[in-house]
Amino acid sequence: MMKIKPCFEYISHSLCARSGRAAAASVSFRCARTCYHRDVAARGKFITFEGLDGSGKSTQVEKLARALRARGVSVVVTREPGGTSAGERIREVLLHSATSGLSPLTEMALMFAARAQHIHEVILPALAEGRIVLCDRFTDSTEAYQGAGRKLGSKPVLELHAVLCGNLQPDLTILLDNDVAVSVERARRRNRTRRNGRSEKNTGKDENRFEQENRAFFGRVRQAYLAIAAREPGRVQLVNARGTPRETHALIMELVRKKLKL
Ligand code: TYD
Repeated sequence: MMKIKPCFEYISHSLCARSGRAAAASVSFRCARTCYHRDVAARGKFITFEGLDGSGKSTQVEKLARALRARGVSVVVTREPGGTSAGERIREVLLHSATSGLSPLTEMALMFAARAQHIHEVILPALAEGRIVLCDRFTDSTEAYQGAGRKLGSKPVLELHAVLCGNLQPDLTILLDNDVAVSVERARRRNRTRRNGRSEKNTGKDENRFEQENRAFFGRVRQAYLAIAAREPGRVQLVNARGTPRETHALIMELVRKKLKL
């Protein structure tokens, strides 16, 4: 049974001031002016996918969702920026190539605005119901793209994550790693195809703003991802995404099977 205990102070640190329990045994988050913590045993699992544009994340998220559902697991698939109606509107501002002149700080703030709503509206309610949440990008993206790509540094990203996201941590992060040139070329090709209306997943949307960045930008993003994986080996699993989608899926299934004890 899930226990939800009202706790009238905001806790995002490693120890819950009220119960004295370690954060490893409880998750806390802000909900209006009230903070709740939930027993981990009662939660679902939060799995995030990270990687460069064109690293094949979306394909792998879908493949994993299908495989888990086939085993009777209740899965929620979502993405960032986006995942809520307000978040999808923020996504359009952030990704449309017609958006010009956004400062790196504004970009970071908008990513977190979308994320805070996403956590509140989608992620925490699904975890409370014991579901598995598969999320295409989360705060590691902000640390890699805005922190390293835009050179804002990791510190403001991690501080905003503590304040706006209650320091919510994924149970598992799958980092799809591929070479910069291969990933970016694939992403650009995909967006050209989308624009020309030939793609199966043609959304008719322009989401090209980041893909216009140069190699050096994506080189910094990749290095930041590798640094996060080295810093948090218990959470972040590096997956070689140079093989076929099927081979990559097999590697991911193995990690998820272990994590979920399937
Ligand atoms: P996504 O739709 O995952 O693009 P792709 O399928 O090409 O990987 O992500 C959209 C873009 O948003 C991507 O270029 C990375 C960027 N982004 C950030 O810069 N910071 C963030 O915090 C997030 C979530 C995404």
